[in-house]
Order: sequence, then structure tokens, then C-alpha cells
Amino acid sequence: MDRRAVVTAGTGGIGLETAMGLAAAGYTVTVVGRDPQRGAHALERIKAVATETEPVFLAADLASLDNVRALAARLAAEGPLKVLVNNVGAMFADRRQTVDGIEASFAVNHLSPYLLTELLLEPLRAAAPSRIVNVSSGAVRTAKPRFEAVEPPGGYYGFHWYGRAKLANLAYTLDLAERLRDTGVSVFAADPGGAATEMTNGTLRSPEIVSPGLRLLWPLVRRTFERSTSGPASVAARPSVFAATDASLDGRTGLLIGPQARPVPPLRKSTDRHLVDDVLRLSRQLAPLTPA
Ligand SMILES: NC(=O)c1ccc[n+]([C@@H]2O[C@H](COP(=O)([O-])OP(=O)(O)OC[C@H]3O[C@@H](n4cnc5c(N)ncnc54)[C@H](OP(=O)(O)O)[C@@H]3O)[C@@H](O)[C@H]2O)c1
Repeated sequence: MDRRAVVTAGTGGIGLETAMGLAAAGYTVTVVGRDPQRGAHALERIKAVATETEPVFLAADLASLDNVRALAARLAAEGPLKVLVNNVGAMFADRRQTVDGIEASFAVNHLSPYLLTELLLEPLRAAAPSRIVNVSSGAVRTAKPRFEAVEPPGGYYGFHWYGRAKLANLAYTLDLAERLRDTGVSVFAADPGGAATEMTNGTLRSPEIVSPGLRLLWPLVRRTFERSTSGPASVAARPSVFAATDASLDGRTGLLIGPQARPVPPLRKSTDRHLVDDVLRLSRQLAPLTPA
């Protein structure tokens, strides 16, 4: 039987390097992105390292919940799924809403991977032992840990809202690991550290993305961003590939894999019960598995 793996946002940046890592490890990889041309280019790169079968590209805009549902239906129809890497993520310099009318940072970084995961639990169970990897970020440390509503109180600062959405996803990930304990489906979060990619090149250059307090220190903040995101995406993909494939993780679950590709303790607030419950309530309300 094919060992099928899916990598979202797998046609560029860290996602493409992750897809190549999985293909080299013998998985039949499906990569998801919006742009078919980029998809075709990504398939060429993956084929060059694939040891077993042909990779596949599927087009979907993961900022749209209907696109996520359609993608999940298509993937589920293909049978058991060994590995799901929810790699999609985005930081927006300006506040924006998705086609569903939801604040975009929260939608892309949390609701989209949440919905795709929930809709693919059956094929993942059918392939057990199988793994879910949700890509996290060190930006969780700068997040307001409040999830009574989709948008946090206060002004829009892209970096912090991105970190808050990643915190929601980390809290969901660790809770899901408990929910799926003893099912054979392991659940991990992977923090890539940083890399020079479209996302970081496109957003980390403007002081507007951080809170007014940090703007006062902008030269220092900018240097920190530059230092932490100067490396190659191939290195930043290692935590995801490790989480998805490494034999030392067999039978384990609920771990955060850090930038050095080894388990690290997650932020304490990511397991706070009130926070987790608020995240789950918001997720179910905003991203129902079947649309109302
Ligand atoms: N780079 C870093 O320093 C860093 C640090 C910490 C965490 N992370 C996390 O690592 C993950 C990958 O980051 P990255 O820097 O590699 O990002 P990136 O360079 O922006 O990723 C590009 C990939 O994302 C796809 N993509 C973007 N928006 C999409 C959408 N709405 N629907 C479907 N595909 C979409 C692109 O394909 P199309 O253009 O064809 O849509 C392309 O395949 C993210 O979760 C990010 O938050 C990154």
C-alpha cells in the first residue's frame, strides 16, 4: 500500500522542502497550493528526490473554508492517509478578511488547518500508525492569550495576530493529541525556527507589524527578525520532516518539535484549559465541518 502524505502550502518555502523530505523518505506526496504553475514546478523538484511514486499537486486556496472542505473530500476519497502536514501559514501586514468574512490571520493559520485535520481524521485513523504535524512558530510567545472572540482586543499588529493564531493552533494540536491518544494517530507541532521565504521577506520589513512598544525598539527588532529568518528553508523543514517520519517518535504523541528537530517544552499557556476551551469553541463556531 502507498504511504500517502499531504503537505499544505507545499509548493514553495518550507512546505516544498518538507514535501521533498517526505518524498525522499518514500512517501507518495500530495502538495497543495493556489498556483498550478508553481505546483508543476514543485512536482519537478519533488520528483528529482522521490524514491517511490509520483507526487501529486492539488489546487486549493486554504484561506477559503469551502476550498478546505472540497480539498478534504477529495483527499478522503483517496483512502488511508499516513501523514498530514498542515504547513500553511501567513502573516499579513494589513488587517484583512477572508471570503468567509473572518480575520485572515486566524483563518489561515488556525481555522484552515483545524478544519482540514478534523475532516481527515477517518483516513488518518484508517492508516494508523499515522501522524499529523501542525507547523507552529516562535511568534506564539508574543501572542495575547485571549480567545473569547476571533479578534483580540486592541489594534491590529500583523506579527502578534499571526502569533496568536499560531498559539490557537498549538493549543488545538496538543489537545487533539490527547483526544486521539490510543488511536494510533500521533499529533505533533513543529516549530521551524526561521527561514528566508516569501512570508518573511514580504512582511518582516515594516515596523507596522509589531505593537507600538516594540516599534520604539524597531532597529533592534528588525535585526532580530533578520538574524532569525536568514537561513535556508531546507533547514527550517527539518522539524516537520522529523515529526512526520522519525522512528524515535513511534508511539509518542503531543510533542512540540523545536527548531533543532528535537522535542522541546511547549509554552505553558498553550495547555491552559480555559484557553483551549475558548479556542475549540471558536473553531467549531467559525469552521463547522459541514457548512450551515
Ligand atoms: N519562514 C519562517 O521564518 C517561519 C518561521 C516560523 C514559522 N513559519 C511557518 O512555516 C510555514 C511555512 O512558512 P513559509 O515561510 O515557507 O511560507 P511561504 O514562503 O509564504 O509559503 C509559500 C507556500 O505557501 C503557499 N500558500 C500561501 N498561501 C496559501 C493559501 N492561501 N492557500 C494555499 N497555499 C498557500 C504557496 O503557494 P501558492 O502561492 O501557490 O498559493 C507556497 O506553496 C508557515 O506555517 C509559517 O507560519 C515560518
